[in-house]
Amino acid sequence: MSARPLNILLVGSGGREHALAWAIAKSPLCGRLFVAPGNPGTAQHGENRPDLTVSDHAAVVAFCRAEAIGLVVVGPEAPLVAGLVDDLAAAGILAFGPTRAAAQLEGSKGFTKELCAEHAIPTAAFARFTALEPALAYLRERGAPIVVKADGLAAGKGVTVAETLPEAEEAVRAILGGEAGGALVIEECLFGEEASFFALCDGTRAIPLGTAQDHKRVHDGDRGPNTGGMGAYAPASIVTPAIEQAVMERIIGPTLAGMAARGTPFSGILYAGLMLTDEGPKLIEYNTRFGDPEAQVLMPRLSGDLVPALLAAARGDLTGIVIGFEPGSAALTVVMAAAGYPGPVARGSEIRGIAAAETEGGAIVFHAGTRRDGDRLVADGGRVLAVTALGSSVGQARARAYAALARIDWPQGFCRSDIGGREVAREAAGAATGR
Ligand code: AMP
Ligand code: GLY
Repeated sequence: MSARPLNILLVGSGGREHALAWAIAKSPLCGRLFVAPGNPGTAQHGENRPDLTVSDHAAVVAFCRAEAIGLVVVGPEAPLVAGLVDDLAAAGILAFGPTRAAAQLEGSKGFTKELCAEHAIPTAAFARFTALEPALAYLRERGAPIVVKADGLAAGKGVTVAETLPEAEEAVRAILGGEAGGALVIEECLFGEEASFFALCDGTRAIPLGTAQDHKRVHDGDRGPNTGGMGAYAPASIVTPAIEQAVMERIIGPTLAGMAARGTPFSGILYAGLMLTDEGPKLIEYNTRFGDPEAQVLMPRLSGDLVPALLAAARGDLTGIVIGFEPGSAALTVVMAAAGYPGPVARGSEIRGIAAAETEGGAIVFHAGTRRDGDRLVADGGRVLAVTALGSSVGQARARAYAALARIDWPQGFCRSDIGGREVAREAAGAATGR
């Protein structure tokens, strides 16, 4: 591997990209770091380029040539599904992330379900529909509870876990009832605890890259609508070494083999959303990128340099790459969102106290949806900040994260107060029984 620093372009503007920028900028291999478009958080670690239109692939190629970019790291799913990595590769520019064809694992639920069926990958039973009447008939045959999903990118928000048949029918009508047409997947409802599982892939091989638990519902006690994620912690102890092995053998391995056999090998981050059922881990869905806010709890715990691992995956050969986490470390992040999220939110309210949360509170405050307005930092999105702390247990990380968050002065924001609660209870039970 070349030890010469290389210029890196990171694509994206959320909390995940701030966490990636934080980790990439620490690498001795990183020369100049550019972030397009970036946010006020990423500006602390690199040069933001809001002027670069990421959807204009020719412009991204021209930028990479002009700035001698040696590696492009794509954070979010949309540019992957749009084929940014393909167009960069065609121009001879190395990029981390899957091709458009491989990103279908996230972009099309129907595609993933078919791959699972072909390779006996454990997942919920399903059927795909493009017409209203057959979908309604299938629902009635199966009964509730049942899960209805739009087939396409919906940032985790196109899913209805319907407790009753009328609720399921309403979800189906909302997707298929209109003029525009659409497609949906109806799934068996799985029961168990969810976990996020990350694997770094080079097209044929995979290295496990951590576990985490997200909190998708907007309110405490897992109530209210689904969001992009209101907080997370890592590692997820519920993913035991035996479960990790099962996930690698039964889910990640066959997926890579299946994608390679189709002529569309997967490289990048394969993020499996798992349900840990009584019958073993089952795949709920794939994402083809780091999670947000999961990246905010993975990056701060890394024990090695992220950049050689990203480079090796992008080059298609992970041989010799060792990447893992500080032993005994835990991290927890609490998302601060603007009032009204996941619905419409007001922008422009001032946020103060981030420096105090970081210096006195010992947290890392990742920016997700903020903007500079003169000297002021203001809210500029739904999810606005991710307040992250490390500890020797999830409980310790959680206490630190909430103490730091209390120093942030932003009356228009809100957060969940129970992030990591289940894990902290497990830790307490383990301590009580001496485990
Ligand atoms: P997805 O966008 O596919 O990750 O779905 C969003 C959320 O819906 C998941 O995190 C689960 O909480 C829930 N969900 C999705 N599919 C199922 C299923 N088959 N059974 C139970 N819950 C599900
Ligand atoms: N935290 C969920 C996601 O990144 O899709």
